[in-house]
Amino acid sequence: MTPLNRRDLLKQALVTGAGIAAASALTPLPAIAENVSAAEHPDAEPAPAAGAKSMKGVPFERRDVVRIGIVGTGLRGRSLLGELLAIDGVRIVAVADLVPDKAQRAVKMCTDAGQAAPAVYAGGERDFEQLVARDDLDFVYTATPWEWHVPVLLAALKAGKHCGAECPIGVTLKDLWALVDASEKAQRHCLQLENCNYGYNEMLINRMVHDGVFGEVQSGSAAYIHDLRTILFENRDEGLWRRGWHTKVNGNLYPTHGLGPVAWYMDLNNGDRMTHMVSMSTEERGLSLHREKTVPDKSDPKWKETYVTGDLNTSLIRTAKGKMIHLMHDVSSPRPYTRLNGVAGTKGVFEDYPARIYIEGQQGGHSFKPIDEWKKTHEHPLWTRVGELARKKGGHGGMDFIMAYRLVECMREGLVPDYDVYDAASWSAPMPLSQMSVAKGSAPMKFPDFTRGRWQKG
Ligand SMILES: NC(=O)c1ccc[n+]([C@@H]2O[C@H](COP(=O)([O-])OP(=O)(O)OC[C@H]3O[C@@H](n4cnc5c(N)ncnc54)[C@H](O)[C@@H]3O)[C@@H](O)[C@H]2O)c1
Repeated sequence: MTPLNRRDLLKQALVTGAGIAAASALTPLPAIAENVSAAEHPDAEPAPAAGAKSMKGVPFERRDVVRIGIVGTGLRGRSLLGELLAIDGVRIVAVADLVPDKAQRAVKMCTDAGQAAPAVYAGGERDFEQLVARDDLDFVYTATPWEWHVPVLLAALKAGKHCGAECPIGVTLKDLWALVDASEKAQRHCLQLENCNYGYNEMLINRMVHDGVFGEVQSGSAAYIHDLRTILFENRDEGLWRRGWHTKVNGNLYPTHGLGPVAWYMDLNNGDRMTHMVSMSTEERGLSLHREKTVPDKSDPKWKETYVTGDLNTSLIRTAKGKMIHLMHDVSSPRPYTRLNGVAGTKGVFEDYPARIYIEGQQGGHSFKPIDEWKKTHEHPLWTRVGELARKKGGHGGMDFIMAYRLVECMREGLVPDYDVYDAASWSAPMPLSQMSVAKGSAPMKFPDFTRGRWQKG
């Protein structure tokens, strides 16, 4: 690992102008191996904080305008900012980033869209504390590197703000419990802003599942299989920090994109819940081979890194009602993109990438058919209503816009959000749980019940 500390690294990013680091050194990470300790044991269910009340079914307060502060205006933060600026009733009040130039790029997007320039907090890694303390904010959105999600969210909740983060929301069970407790104590929502739950196919299939098309759901499949090798080795953006996790954690680093939609199909935390999982990793080869091929200079700091994340991690999760989820992660191999996005029940099965369906009794024998006919009857009303605009905005085929639009709608109309802090914690939990299971020879790991028993009341 690099001798540079985070501050030095960022100073370097500053002098190179557009946040592009001259050196290819990584941001140092906390010692993640300590995860596998008694304090992290999945059986440990901390007592709720004094005065804490469940966040299940709690509506937002109604408001005409949603005032948002953004922490982390890198690639993803600015991408979601673009979606937010296209939605009526959104005002971006403040932005924060370690790299002033990145914050200024976000400011320009706001002024180009006709909004007043947001306040800027830039340069210090805890400047977000000033942002969250403002009294003119309704929601704090964070799109920082993973290790900063929890500090930002905890500060936002302490300051009485609703908040949400990119994926995964937290990386240790202890942190996930801390988010649950802080959200319950503050009575403010803390959300995993999982855009994939709002994908066209995911919303279509969710309706079909709840309409009984697949019968009783028995299993689901979920994945994040995305060849990120080039991105991980760039000397900018995610290349500055994300590869670091591959030197620390052997497990599933990014569970929520695949798991979030399947959790909705199965009503997890609303009538069922994940009870335990087992996990297995292959050897690591992908990043090492990529480095050999693309980093000829052996004095490059990248050659000091040792990658430990197995190329493919596969987990099996069981639920209280006996359902099973197959969960995969691979970002280091030459494979086409897939989130699997599958569901199977007593009447049929859907599999994605490409989308195909088989319902018992359908014409054509035992073979899959395209999904198109079902769009006529089961397209989700959100997609019918704003799908055209979403597709025009474009982020990930429109699902990013639909997610942002729906969040703003819930906040303006005083609705209960579509997901809550319990979903956020349980969708991210496979990251530490897979790591623990792999470290213990694929031993079963108990899933914490972040709802503390309220999952049955769906
Ligand atoms: N939902 C999606 O489809 C999707 C897509 C891409 C990335 N992401 C997630 O978004 C997050 C950010 O990823 P990215 O691609 O934008 O990375 P990035 O490196 O481009 O951006 C991260 C930004 O955070 C800033 N930052 C770092 N520490 C900070 C701190 N303490 N305070 C303020 N700013 C800080 C960095 O300067 C940088 O501008 C990650 O969690 C990633 O997994 C989600």
